[in-house]
Amino acid sequence: MKGSSVNAEDYLKCIHEYMDLQGYAALKDIALILGTVRQTVLDEIKILMDRGLVLRKEKGKYALTKKGMKEALKFLRKHRVAEILLWKGLGMKWSDLDDQAMGIEHGMTEEIIEKVCLNYGCKKCPHGNAVPDKDGNVTETKDIKISKFNSPREMIVSRVVFESPEILKYMEENQLYPGSKLMIVDDKRVKSASGEGILIVPDNFFSAVRFLEV
Ligand SMILES: [Fe+2]
Repeated sequence: MKGSSVNAEDYLKCIHEYMDLQGYAALKDIALILGTVRQTVLDEIKILMDRGLVLRKEKGKYALTKKGMKEALKFLRKHRVAEILLWKGLGMKWSDLDDQAMGIEHGMTEEIIEKVCLNYGCKKCPHGNAVPDKDGNVTETKDIKISKFNSPREMIVSRVVFESPEILKYMEENQLYPGSKLMIVDDKRVKSASGEGILIVPDNFFSAVRFLEV
């Protein structure tokens, strides 16, 4: 994403994703994702704080307020439906959808969204995240963040909450999609039901992906 075309909605989406990943968004993280510099991020964060959308958790760490969360979810509706359109309508690559949707999501009117939903269904985005309604309400997905690795366990991929190109490409290459079964060996390794060998997961994999019991 280019720094010049970034707006408030992109900031809210970015902070939302980092909150799912690690509980907060740091200035440098946001700058990296949005392709801008730390000072620009700080200036925009101040505006969002004045609007009551963002709060400071501690020095350099930010989160969405309740109002900010609602606004983020309204935007995520556009983003996730744009992904569905690119995927089901245009047959684009699963790992490119998040990035490509950034080019069209701001122009997704409710009329377009309703047509996409009618044609392709829009319960979830291709990465397994529920599509909020137009008021920003969303049904919480009851899945698990794995943080303890006592013994190998078989799980099903539920969704990708942090859609970084690295994680999406890795999952696509190894055919790990929402609904795929895998064996979690430890905090660094998994065994895919469709693949032969043990796979080393990228950094942040277990923070970025949620699972369901088999
Ligand atoms: Fe997605």
